[in-house]
Amino acid sequence: MKNTRIYILFLLLTGAMLSCKHDIINNNVIINTDTTVIVAPPIGGGSSTTTASDTVCFNTDVLPLYVSYCGSSGCHDANSKREGVILTDYAHIMLGIRAKQSSSSRYYTIIGGSMPPRTSTQMTATNIATIKKWIDQGALNSQCTNVCDTTVFTYAGAIQTIIGNNCGGCHGTSPGTANVYLGTYAAAKAYITANTNLFNNAINWTSTTAAMNMPQSGKMVACKITQIQKWIKAGYPQ
Ligand code: HEC
Repeated sequence: MKNTRIYILFLLLTGAMLSCKHDIINNNVIINTDTTVIVAPPIGGGSSTTTASDTVCFNTDVLPLYVSYCGSSGCHDANSKREGVILTDYAHIMLGIRAKQSSSSRYYTIIGGSMPPRTSTQMTATNIATIKKWIDQGALNSQCTNVCDTTVFTYAGAIQTIIGNNCGGCHGTSPGTANVYLGTYAAAKAYITANTNLFNNAINWTSTTAAMNMPQSGKMVACKITQIQKWIKAGYPQ
């Protein structure tokens, strides 16, 4: 009896998942590419001469930008989906991207125009160029796992970019979401010094409350977390 109930629950859940998936495919009038490429880590601790390191990785380079600058609660996260737009996962982002055609990709061309709204934190020129390059490389669902040189952990050398890309949309302009402002060297240092445990739990996804894990949509790759932890331990080298 119990088993039957579990089985029915399973069927219902599967049905719900499939119908969501089905929706995505139906709406996906522009392109339906779902190629996952595992990109090799940079060789020799960060040499940039390999083609692999020139590949823009969706999970580490592109998704964090959409999540941070567009996907906050009230805007384009899966719950709020303003104007029906969700920008927190590959399948939904691809609804507005044409592979290899950045100039006709709506979710690219709108950046810096009317989105993010003028009052919100804007992406940097480098961020926008990264998205363009990713599209022009084929807009693949490329997943990189080990893409950092963990011997580099100065603010200028690594941390500024990691925090800017992964946290900047929500915590990059003062006072910042939830009054957490990490937008400058001094601000990040001051906040983390005063809230070290909270901060470490947030980035390691070990907070007591799931909502306090950062970024909320998905943990950063391990090597970036390592870089931040080394930076803190070493006394915030500039
Ligand atoms: C899409 C928006 C968004 C992004 C991106 C984001 N945060 Fe947050 N952050 C929030 C929100 C919302 C809260 C409040 C969460 C709560 O308390 O429920 C928060 C709270 C926090 C807190 C305080 C924890 C608490 O809840 O008291 C810290 C620390 C923090 N964020 C760090 C980061 C760091 C570091 C990053 C990047 C690695 C990051 N956040 C990325 C939205 C974001």
